[in-house]
Amino acid sequence: MRTRTRSPRVTAAALAASAALLLGLTVAPAADAASPHRDRAATLDDLARQHGRYFGSAVDNPELADTPYADLLGTEFGQTTPGNGMKWDATEPRRGVFDFTAGDEIVNYAKAKGLKVRGHTLLWHNQLPSWLTSGTWTADELRSILKNHITKVVKHYRGKVFAWDVANEIMNEDGTYRENIFYKTLGPGYIADALRWARAADPRVKLYLNDYNVEGTGAKSDAYYTLIKRLKADRVPIDGFGMQAHLALQYGFPYQMRQNIQRFADLGVDVAITELDIRMILPSDATELAQQADWYGQVTSACLAVRRCVGITLWGYSDRHSWIPATFPGEGAALPWDENLRHKPAYDALRKALTATTS
Ligand code: G3I
Repeated sequence: MRTRTRSPRVTAAALAASAALLLGLTVAPAADAASPHRDRAATLDDLARQHGRYFGSAVDNPELADTPYADLLGTEFGQTTPGNGMKWDATEPRRGVFDFTAGDEIVNYAKAKGLKVRGHTLLWHNQLPSWLTSGTWTADELRSILKNHITKVVKHYRGKVFAWDVANEIMNEDGTYRENIFYKTLGPGYIADALRWARAADPRVKLYLNDYNVEGTGAKSDAYYTLIKRLKADRVPIDGFGMQAHLALQYGFPYQMRQNIQRFADLGVDVAITELDIRMILPSDATELAQQADWYGQVTSACLAVRRCVGITLWGYSDRHSWIPATFPGEGAALPWDENLRHKPAYDALRKALTATTS
């Protein structure tokens, strides 16, 4: 992982202001008198970094053309994840023909803004190219296709991403393996193989499994707990567990989230909150927005309470760009900024949780 050198945020003046940052106070670096940001408040990422964590937001390529949105992303956050640009249909649209245009665009944007990048994702049952899903493959052929894909993509982004979601959403709700194309043809051993191939292609990048509905204890997170324990025992390279955290007010807050994060950390892996959003049934009202704010605070506090919970990523930061209305018609309002990039109560709750002095 590279050291961030973004200025003026990491100047001596900024370091001297760290006590103020911990309290969430305004930072006014003396050397920056001509800057329009002279009296800017500490950002969410500034506050998270006081705890040794990052605070990020995903971004999809078309959103980079929304200048106010891209600018705010680049100032408020310290990390980003491509929403779609590194998925298999984008990176290998034809067999053996790789296209890194979309992922590179986000990596270049992130570099210019001083954000670090999580890679998402090397294998998933969704957004696979049709040449792969419509083909009939022997186990040897599919193993070779998967190995080649992982190797080429990880090598291309070596040194440019600090972590990879190697395998995404590989479990069912009841804790059985999802019968994706890889499981059906290769059996569950494809997961360890994928991790080993990723490690061979980049010895330094952090390798994650990533899923939703695993933030609390339950059958699905139990299955990951058992799997990661076994992978560790078998000396398979696994560095982290990603909890997506696509929450919805109508389904309740995840059960025992802090304890759940802790038990994964106790296995010797990092945990990251990778795709946080908290949706509700529309139209939203003040009571729901207050409850949403409380949940954003609770997720943040749960992460800060566990030393190995390394960071939080929102799945987009504003209701202006969110996957939710297209997937769950009638639901939305899930992010801490509204469609006009104005703060919602959730933003203040995040700041409050990040400025708590005990973690
Ligand atoms: O690229 C095509 C474009 O050519 C076409 O014109 C357009 C018409 O609808 O569709 C475009 O593809 C869309 C793609 O996003 C890129 O914008 C797909 O329809 C759309 O389904 C796809 O949605 C993405 C979704 O994953 C797919 O399952 C969301 O943007 C993305 O935010 C979402 O992200 C996932 C994570 O990867 C894993 N965890 C869950 C999360 C939310 O579903």
